[in-house]
Amino acid sequence: MTLAPEIVSLTGTHCRRVEVVVEVVVVPSKNDGSELAGGAIADLLNRKPTAVLGLATGSTPLGVYDDLVRRYEAGEVSFAQAKGFALDEYVGLPPNHPESYRAVIKREIAERVDFAPDSVHGPDGWASDIPAACAAYEEAIVAAGGIDLQILGVGTDGHIGFNEPISSLASLTRIKTLTEQTREDNARFFDDDLAQVPTHVLTQGVGTILRAGHLVLLAWGENKAEAVRDTVEGPITSMIPSTALQLHPHATVVVDEAAASALANRDHYKWTYANKPAWQGI
Ligand code: GLP
Repeated sequence: MTLAPEIVSLTGTHCRRVEVVVEVVVVPSKNDGSELAGGAIADLLNRKPTAVLGLATGSTPLGVYDDLVRRYEAGEVSFAQAKGFALDEYVGLPPNHPESYRAVIKREIAERVDFAPDSVHGPDGWASDIPAACAAYEEAIVAAGGIDLQILGVGTDGHIGFNEPISSLASLTRIKTLTEQTREDNARFFDDDLAQVPTHVLTQGVGTILRAGHLVLLAWGENKAEAVRDTVEGPITSMIPSTALQLHPHATVVVDEAAASALANRDHYKWTYANKPAWQGI
């Protein structure tokens, strides 16, 4: 887990962070992890009110959004000058479809806090010109100054965003075909009816994700344990896109005990985090 010398010299993070590449934080519960991630986002917004947030869907980040709403309502944080970019979107769902990711992001976070109108964006899976929509999305992220903090969940097959296995680790926003596994996993959002789950999606690429300043991947429960182990301890491979986190100089993986259960070095991660200088945050 020693930070490779070339990464140290390229990023200059050696003075700021302890010696891990992917930092693993094992928390007692999903609530603790959601609070930790929510706290990191609130700290970022208080340091940089114009911060650009990368917003994920799926069930995993919902507790983080609840935590942020609580902090917003308590007057601890404001999103008024911030921007948000969704990770991904289904192709072919009208934007007002309740399971379009645009609608989910709006419902779960954007309209519950004080984001300014039109400050939260998503790839346009309803566009007639899909390649142009993907290019426009990349440009919009760059024009906003890049994503400061990207929240990530992880699929059971190690997908991040909708970058399924065999996604180029340099990929940018583009159209992808979902695996049968992911469609089955996501059928729960479509009345458990596989036929309703779109087959295609737009997603920020792995390369897009790697451009964000800080990656915070969250995982809860035993069914994510293998994906978490592969992400942190496995070899980097496009077969498991989440392993690309190992290429990032500031990636944090926040997991509950069940999701951490397959990690060979779990005790070391706990010890490292317990002894981390408090001023570093995550
Ligand atoms: C979807 C999303 C991913 C998410 C994954 C895991 O496929 N595109 O961004 O990480 O689901 O979902 P969940 O958090 O519900 O387990």
